[in-house]
Amino acid sequence: MKIAVMGDLHYVQQTQYNTGEAHTPAFIEARDRFFERYINGFFAVEADYYVSVGDLTNFGTADELSEVYQLIRKHDKTFIHTLGNHDLYTMTRQAVCEQVQQHTNYSIDTPEATLIFWETAREMDEEVYGGTVTAQQLAWLEKELLASGDKTVFVFGHHPIYDTTHHSNYENLSIDPSIDVASVLRKKEYGQAFYICGHTHYDSIVQHENWTYVQIAAVLDVPAMRVIDVQQGNVTVTAQTVLTAEYQHDAAIIAEQMDFFEGRLDGAGTTLTRNIVVPTAVPSSVR
Ligand SMILES: [Fe+2]
Repeated sequence: MKIAVMGDLHYVQQTQYNTGEAHTPAFIEARDRFFERYINGFFAVEADYYVSVGDLTNFGTADELSEVYQLIRKHDKTFIHTLGNHDLYTMTRQAVCEQVQQHTNYSIDTPEATLIFWETAREMDEEVYGGTVTAQQLAWLEKELLASGDKTVFVFGHHPIYDTTHHSNYENLSIDPSIDVASVLRKKEYGQAFYICGHTHYDSIVQHENWTYVQIAAVLDVPAMRVIDVQQGNVTVTAQTVLTAEYQHDAAIIAEQMDFFEGRLDGAGTTLTRNIVVPTAVPSSVR
């Protein structure tokens, strides 16, 4: 089984948020070219599931959501969107989910792994952009982890777990540190587990006990993707370039002119913080 994952895309509309006026022709041209080519390249990679770890859009406006989903739906692939804080700046979670026809907080059980998608972003809160989860979500995650036995688990969410991947110990760059997610993750006693996130805009991989935390940089900074290959005996996480350096010029024009986005020139990690092979071997007799 293969899972393709994109980091924060921050698809941006062609008009200014505050005035409604159009951005410059150079911005619109760069935007149209960059996002369409990135999305086409992302879906050109063969996978069973295609996941966005949130901030698919820059401000969660109806225009941004409908335009980006138009580009995505052209490909007729299984696309799963866990919402980021930016996806929820304009509308409630329920309104966004109705518009894009996505579910929230659910799992998919496959023969090779359990895939868990959970929501960590606050609704319509531009001040506090760190993540939060409810007691019900924690109880649900615990139940899912216990039920997974020794099967490999992947949890996809927008915000990192506090004090794991790069910068996740900074204010607002993780799920609220006062919420004890770590104790719940420890309920996964057998087998390997992966937590896949975005939000900080830095590539990073950190391993602790049987959890591997994989954080993905923002697409405008690093037009790449992660391919997670779940094979018998191991899970391989590989960073794959989607757009080559020639599109960095477009990305720079977009990032410079758009609101609510700060380019990170140092978002790209090294090989060791983008790729990993994790052995998952469990004798088939005990499965
Ligand atoms: Fe983001």
